[in-house]
Amino acid sequence: MTQDELKQAVARAAVDYIHPKLDSDSIVGVGTGSTANYFIDYLAEIKGSFDGTVASSEASAERLKSHGIPVYDLNAIDNMVVYVDGADETNPALELIKGGGAALTREKIVAAVADEFVCIADGSKWVDTLGAFPLPVEVIPMARSHVARELVKLGGDPVYREGVVTDNGNVILDVHNMAITNSKQMEKDINQIVGVVTNGLFAARAADVLLIGRESGVETVT
Ligand code: A5P
Repeated sequence: MTQDELKQAVARAAVDYIHPKLDSDSIVGVGTGSTANYFIDYLAEIKGSFDGTVASSEASAERLKSHGIPVYDLNAIDNMVVYVDGADETNPALELIKGGGAALTREKIVAAVADEFVCIADGSKWVDTLGAFPLPVEVIPMARSHVARELVKLGGDPVYREGVVTDNGNVILDVHNMAITNSKQMEKDINQIVGVVTNGLFAARAADVLLIGRESGVETVT
């Protein structure tokens, strides 16, 4: 199977996984990226089974709307049964690196609200230790150089993602060569740097369920 077919398989599995949990009042949180896009397309097939969605990016909101799926402002809802999103890396504790698509801050906010976080990923995202994928950090533009110097002090090699502006009007530094052995502490330490909006480590709020696509089929990890 190609990587794309594995993404489609986990997206389909996610719809099957959440469908029994939904009723006419349910709000579904929807992530960002190519795997999340497949999820949106399959979610459209069951759009009568829930109330609506909250999207973690403008791009996902547009795709949801193009299928006629209602998209709410997060401030307009008071509960979310589930959030479904992809990842750039996952370890066996279901801690993630996210933000390859620059949507990490809104993804982290929506994940924080959801009762359950279901991560969908093809098998290439599975690692023992996080950090081979450069860690995205969203930064207030005027703080870019300051934050970069502080990230070097933490042992990383930050690279400015040129030409990218987040949905929040900020910039991204991708931190290479970071040894992420204590994910929760690292997540906190980076967030303490003045000028950082958030970083792409999802350790304080890891996934609750991982649907991972392998040649042998979709595996459920909890
Ligand atoms: C978006 O900012 C990311 O967190 C994505 O969830 C992540 O990059 C996974 O993307 P793909 O599903 O495209 O691999």
